[in-house]
Amino acid sequence: MESIEKQLIEALHQKKLPQTCKALLESDDQLPLAADRELVEQVLSTCENIGAFCTEQKQSVLSKLADAGGAVALGENDRPISYSLFHTFAIDLNWEDLDLLIPILKAENYLFWNPVEGGGWEAYKRMYDAMEVIKTDDSTTRLIIRWAEDRKRGKLGRLLLPGSLDLQWLQLPKPLWPLYYLARPIRIVLDRFGAKKPPILGPYLGTPISLISPILELVGATSDDKLVDIGCGDGRIVIEAADQIGCEAVGVEINDQLIEIAHAEVRRRGLQDKVNIVHSDASEALTSDASIVFIFLPVATLRSLIPQLKQQLKKGTKIITHEQARPDFGEGNQPDASKLVLADGALTVAHIWHV
Ligand SMILES: C[S@@+](CC[C@H](N)C(=O)[O-])C[C@H]1O[C@@H](n2cnc3c(N)ncnc32)[C@H](O)[C@@H]1O
Repeated sequence: MESIEKQLIEALHQKKLPQTCKALLESDDQLPLAADRELVEQVLSTCENIGAFCTEQKQSVLSKLADAGGAVALGENDRPISYSLFHTFAIDLNWEDLDLLIPILKAENYLFWNPVEGGGWEAYKRMYDAMEVIKTDDSTTRLIIRWAEDRKRGKLGRLLLPGSLDLQWLQLPKPLWPLYYLARPIRIVLDRFGAKKPPILGPYLGTPISLISPILELVGATSDDKLVDIGCGDGRIVIEAADQIGCEAVGVEINDQLIEIAHAEVRRRGLQDKVNIVHSDASEALTSDASIVFIFLPVATLRSLIPQLKQQLKKGTKIITHEQARPDFGEGNQPDASKLVLADGALTVAHIWHV
């Protein structure tokens, strides 16, 4: 029979983790070992904690919206989230309330992938039916806001539809929002023939702080290691590694704002001797003397990055990533180990390759 850990990872990939935990706990013969029962109980309690966190966040946003005069629509909004695997929740809004919500979200430090003022925002509201905003503190919370029925578009419709890059590229006044349909092909042509920019390999999502210590333990990090985080975001992995374990750590990042946040935290903790945050594209990351390479990027990126790293890195280096969804790392690219990583209010699966 498969180990309990493997069953739990499979259940996580199928997004059926709470149900599987409950079924295991209710059965008489599936958990003969106390350690397994304890693990399943811990996982269920983590899902419950994440659900409670999401419910609280949702209620907080909705009550602030009601205070601002919003007529909060029913539907998803009233549903408490009993168990969740992800720090993600959705709210349904009336179109008219969208503008009331933006200052509330700004005050709560949510980040937007698209413009939320001027013609860009006007275009987004009219062209799309939902948007995702994120807030990163100890973990990254995703909020999905829906204000219209799912608009079905054909292939051509999707191709012509301005995306967040187009809406950010040009700042148009509100009444001119339809001109973004013209701006899109122009932006694409200019991008194609303009100076090459480093590719954005993935959006910013912070690894939950509570998972960092168990991940470092899992990969066996010691003070003799040199850890490189490719796409280090606000530097949380390299900073915790240097602070908790005392190893040398290098973070590579292209986003200026995140680099500034990382530098400030390095200075605040007095870790300048141990931590180096480098402004560079991932492809130029100096990993040749790394003993541990940490990466938290989309699986589609990892599919090409992992084989490249395996060729570049010195023998004995460990590569570690984590991901909740079922990853497809590609043929011949399977990790040497995949382990469930659990903390109080977060869980993930870590994948390790030994070069
Ligand atoms: C999912 S975040 C991971 C942040 C951090 N490693 C963590 O686990 O908390 C991915 C990061 O990669 C950065 N990134 C994306 N493309 C990059 C590139 N070409 N070179 C360097 N960093 C990049 C993003 O700005 C983002 O901060």
